[in-house]
This record gives sequence, C-alpha cells and structure tokens, in this order.
Amino acid sequence: MSGDRQRWGTKIGVVLAVAGSAVGLGNFLRFPVQAGKYGEGAFMIPYLIALVLVGIPLMWVEWTAGRYGGGRGHSTAPGIYDSLWKKSRFVKYLGIGGIFGPFLIYMYYVYIESWCLAYAYYSLTGQLSNITSSQGFIDFLSNYQGLSDAGFVSGTVPGFVFFLITFLLNMTVIYFGIRGGIEKLCNIAMPLLLIFGVLLAIRVITLFAPDPLHPDWSSINGLGFIWNTDLSALKSPKVWVAATGQIFFTLSVGMGVILTYSSYLRKKDDIALSGLAAASTNEFAEVIVAGAIVIPAAFIFFGPGEIVEIANSGAFNLGFVTMPQIFNKIPLGAMLCFLWFFMLFLAGITSSISIVQPSIAFMEDEFKIKRQKAVKIFGVVAFVLCQPALWFLHRGVLDDLDFWGANFVIVVGATIEIILLAWIFGINKAWDELHLGAKLRVPVIFKFITKYITPTLLLALLIWFFVEDWLDIITMKGVPPENIPYVLGIRLVLVGILLFLAIMVWIAWKRHKSEDKAKDL
Ligand code: ALA
Repeated sequence: MSGDRQRWGTKIGVVLAVAGSAVGLGNFLRFPVQAGKYGEGAFMIPYLIALVLVGIPLMWVEWTAGRYGGGRGHSTAPGIYDSLWKKSRFVKYLGIGGIFGPFLIYMYYVYIESWCLAYAYYSLTGQLSNITSSQGFIDFLSNYQGLSDAGFVSGTVPGFVFFLITFLLNMTVIYFGIRGGIEKLCNIAMPLLLIFGVLLAIRVITLFAPDPLHPDWSSINGLGFIWNTDLSALKSPKVWVAATGQIFFTLSVGMGVILTYSSYLRKKDDIALSGLAAASTNEFAEVIVAGAIVIPAAFIFFGPGEIVEIANSGAFNLGFVTMPQIFNKIPLGAMLCFLWFFMLFLAGITSSISIVQPSIAFMEDEFKIKRQKAVKIFGVVAFVLCQPALWFLHRGVLDDLDFWGANFVIVVGATIEIILLAWIFGINKAWDELHLGAKLRVPVIFKFITKYITPTLLLALLIWFFVEDWLDIITMKGVPPENIPYVLGIRLVLVGILLFLAIMVWIAWKRHKSEDKAKDL
C-alpha cells in the first residue's frame, strides 16, 4: 500500500516546505498586530513561553504522528488517527478536522493572498505611490474590495481577476505534486522571501530617527517597544491567550498540514531536528524579521502613542493601509512597497498550498484517485466555496470563517492529537518513534511537557476560549442583524462540508474493509 507513495526529494526540501507552510500572512500581519495591541513589552514573554510549552511539543507530535501514519499508507488525520488507535472504530471521525480545518482556512486565505499579489502589482505601476493620505489608502482598499453598505454584494472585477490568478497558481503547484510542485516552489520562494524580509528589516532599522521633531521616535526605540519587558502585563490572562493563539496559527499546528507533509517521509528520516529547524525558520521570520519591520516602522512614523491604535485597527489596516503609507515616506519607497507585498504573496502561497494538500492526499490515499484528477475535483469545489469570502466580505463572512478555521478547529484539533499520541498511543512509544533516525536527542523534559503540561494548557485554553470568546461568537452576539443571514448561510455550508467528509470517511473505511476481506480470500 505504501510503496508508490509520493516522497520528498531532499531533506532540506521537507524543512523548507514545512517552514513555508508556517511562514505566512500570520507572521507578517497577525504577529505585529498582537505584539502592538497589548502595549509596550507585554507580548514577548508569554509568546516565548507558549512557544516552548505548546508550539514546539505540538510540532513534534505532528511530525511523529504524520510519519507514523505515512508508513501505514495514510497522509491525513482520519487514517493517521486510525493507525494510532487501532482499537477504536470512531477515532477516524475525529480526524475529519485535519481536512476540514485547512479547507475552510483556504476558503478565505487564498483571497487575502491575492490582495498581496494585486498590491505588489499596484506598487510597480505607481498607483500606490500616488496616494498621499491615510484616508486615501483606506479608500483604495475599499474600492479594491468593493465594499459598499448599499450594495448586496462586495467584490470587484480586479479583485476577482487577481483571485483567479492566485487560485490557478495554487492549483498548478499542487498539480505537480509533492516533489515536482510544492518542494520546488518552496526551494525558491522561501530563500527569496527571507532575503526580501531581511532587506526590508535592514532598511527600517537604518532609518534611525528621521523625524527631527521627534528624536525619540527611532527604530531602536521601536524594537524596544517589542522587547523591553513590562512584567506587570503578565498578570493579564488575555495576553497569554493571545500569545498562545498566535503560536498555533503561526506554526500551522493543529491544522493537520504538518501531519500530511511529514507523512511523505521515510521511516527513518529524521523528524526531531527537521521539525525544530522548520519551527526555528518560522520564528526567525516572525520574531526577528517581521518584528524588525512593522512595529519599528510604525513607531518611527506614528510614535508610541498611535501604535496600539494602529494594531487595534487590525491586520488588514496594518498591512494594506499603514505599511504602504510608511513606504511613501521613504526614499525608493515604491520598490520597498513592492518587496513588502511580493514577500507577503510568497509567504501566502507557500502556506496556502500546504492547506490544499490534506484534501488532495485524502482523495489519493483513501479513494485511490490520481493526483491530477484529485486536483481538478478540489479546484472546482474550492473555487465555488471561495466565492462567499469574495462577494460577501463585508457581511461578516470572512471573519466568521477565520474564527472557525484559525481559532476553533485548530485548538480543538491540537488537543485531540496530543491526547491521542501522548496518552492513547503512549508517550514512551511516541518518544521512541520521534527518535527513529533522529539527528537530535530531544531533552527528556519534553516527554513530561508533552504528556502533562501541553494537554493541561490546551484544555485550560479551550475552556477559557469557550467562556470568554466562543460562546458569544457561536450565538452570533454582536453580529449586525443585516449580516445574520450571511453568517448563518456560511455556517450551514460548513456543517454541510463536515457531514460530507464524515460520509466520505465512512465510505472509504467500508471499502478498505471489503478490500482487506478480498485479500484474505
Ligand atoms: N502558518 C500560516 C500563517 O502564519 C498559516 O499564515
């Protein structure tokens, strides 16, 4: 069953692909918003603690479970969970989240990715450098998205065209498979985006303090905004929850994509060091590179007073309004603006292809559908299901998808997979599995952390999220009445996708059973 599986071409290929999945819009847009929102010096300590106690253990859990399942012919969570807990007939249904989560993130992520491509194009054509005010950038973004209170739908022709180009690029990469598509793209895109990021960071830091009226609005003080530690902020549970949420999203853990990527490894390919290398690349891109671009740049041009306000205005505002405005104030701004948006696009595409792969792998492994055909099926279904985010953006559809995909499903998914590996499969067996072919001996303290600390923190987080945030969102508290039909509509679509996946899993395992019976005869 596992002989004809796709495999990674090189060892560095899988590291860059997983890093590509992790380094995404979350690094360059979501992270600065979180770091800015909670005020000076509040964020980094909870963030680094969450990285060690939640992010890194979950990352090893996923690499381990993925390679183990891959060895048994499964690249997605239903099959991987089934092989981890042989005795259970129901665990495979818990794995549906590993296909559903990435798919629903895809339903809006690829649209936002297409804005980055569009803005890279507009930087080159000079359309952004002609805008002189903050309101001008807000209007430009609104016109691009086609937001209008009066209209039934949003969306514009340019918005649709850039979406289509981005979508087709994604499908083309996936069409060529793990080695010929994903690995090849990441081998080029990852070094390129890191070079662009480092260039931008150097430019921002070497601006020093360009405003003579505000000599203390300097790049170094901008870095201080992130790194000077305010211990009193640690008393707020909100900052801990936000830091842990960021770690989830940025490392792409809990989504099911690392499971799928690592399933294409061979039994004795190293996962301990590779996992750490991919996570470290992500942290370098997020903390060092993104941390040296967005907040310091905003600090230099808007001062400490406005940073929290800018961060509170959200990731889209920061990325598509504040950043181009800043570049317009710098020599060679149009070129830097292009670098910024093209870097965002590269970060986006290396992540979005990773969230397509679980759906493709599910069709390939469990239904023996050829990759090219699976990509066509996915392409048609995903193209249709991406449309609500485009056309009903201003009706709360994108926010709702983001809640279910980037918050709910990944936290629940991570909790399920760590309990499954550390408690049901067994931490000792999991530890041995992690070290098969390993080029690194993981400190034994992580055995304890993975079994006790991470699951406890995840359960606490689930309860906190549920009481503080989720209950209100689930009951649509605060959703304007005119948006309720749209939000409800998209939720019904999501329930439909979940049911469809459950039926597919049921059919697939029925077929596996009859195939096994036929073999025994
Ligand atoms: N990890 C990806 C990101 O940060 C999804 O955007």
